[in-house]
Amino acid sequence: MTRVFHRRVFFLPIGFESHSSQKAIYSYAFSLIFVWVFFAFLLSPHSGLAEERSKRLRFGFGSCISKSDPEMFQSIVREDLDHFLILGDAIYYQNSDFKSVETMKAAFATRMKSNGLTAFLKTMPVSFIWDDHDFGPQDADSSFVFAKESEKIFRSHLPIPERPHGFTQGVHQELLLKDALFVLTDNRTFRENPDKKNPTLFGAKQLSWISDALSSKKGKIQFLVSGNQVTSSNPNYEHARQYSRDFEVLRHVLQAVEVPTVILSGDTHYAEILLWEAGGKWPILEVTSSPLSSEVAPKSKVVEENNRQGIFLGHHNYAVVTVRYLPSQVSLRAEIKDRTGKTRLSHAMVFKE
Ligand SMILES: [Fe+2]
Repeated sequence: MTRVFHRRVFFLPIGFESHSSQKAIYSYAFSLIFVWVFFAFLLSPHSGLAEERSKRLRFGFGSCISKSDPEMFQSIVREDLDHFLILGDAIYYQNSDFKSVETMKAAFATRMKSNGLTAFLKTMPVSFIWDDHDFGPQDADSSFVFAKESEKIFRSHLPIPERPHGFTQGVHQELLLKDALFVLTDNRTFRENPDKKNPTLFGAKQLSWISDALSSKKGKIQFLVSGNQVTSSNPNYEHARQYSRDFEVLRHVLQAVEVPTVILSGDTHYAEILLWEAGGKWPILEVTSSPLSSEVAPKSKVVEENNRQGIFLGHHNYAVVTVRYLPSQVSLRAEIKDRTGKTRLSHAMVFKE
């Protein structure tokens, strides 16, 4: 009996000595067993908690990372997310980087280490689209001389899947995650100069791919993911309304969708939530989160938006979206959070059949 007693001493907490009473030992062992059974139940596939998690999707997104901000990344990691999306400007090329493909390669590798992105990629699954600064120069379009080489560099550093069938260029992709379809678009590779007559933003082929994806009913909810804003009317930033041909196609698709659809965007260096009555089954929510660590936009560049829900946020920020699936309805809560993880803006919606 004494021997057994001594063996178990190894499991006792500091200060619990071998001459303690046998009763105390039994009581301690019972507590351990109780804690083990309690957590085993919580984590078992049949527990309410596991079931609840399986009916819930919780993901985050953000854009524009010019420098390291460990506190911001730590706040994101603490959110316990299924996935994170970076909506462009994952690094910032400088004009001096465009001397050659070699200088671009070196710049991309250096910046994603120094801005904390390399370390962040080890913390959770992350998907990317790009915008002007991780593609080429400010407001760059398809005429950028290193466009193809830039895509190779982007793909070599970041987890980008193969192109959709029939495409030889572009970083657009479909992502299906817990019954949610993400249509991640490329608003640089096919973009024409806005001064051209009737220019395109996404290119006819990608626009058709976007339309097919949003009409596919692959998810119970779907997210149109864009570097630039789509429904904003701020003339100080690039947005889809400036490309009226593409915008009209999107409007028609969004009016006809039979699955709740939400737009996620970045680019602006301030955050806001817009609600657009497109005339379809549900209004279209657009959640814009920017910047993660780049310079915040001056107030003078932000304009009044009739569709804005609440205020705009002129602070560093990221977004968290929680989707819950219930019989015959899907609920969504979008939150814009500051670098400490505090919610500064939020909007909830319930999509009923
Ligand atoms: Fe940016």
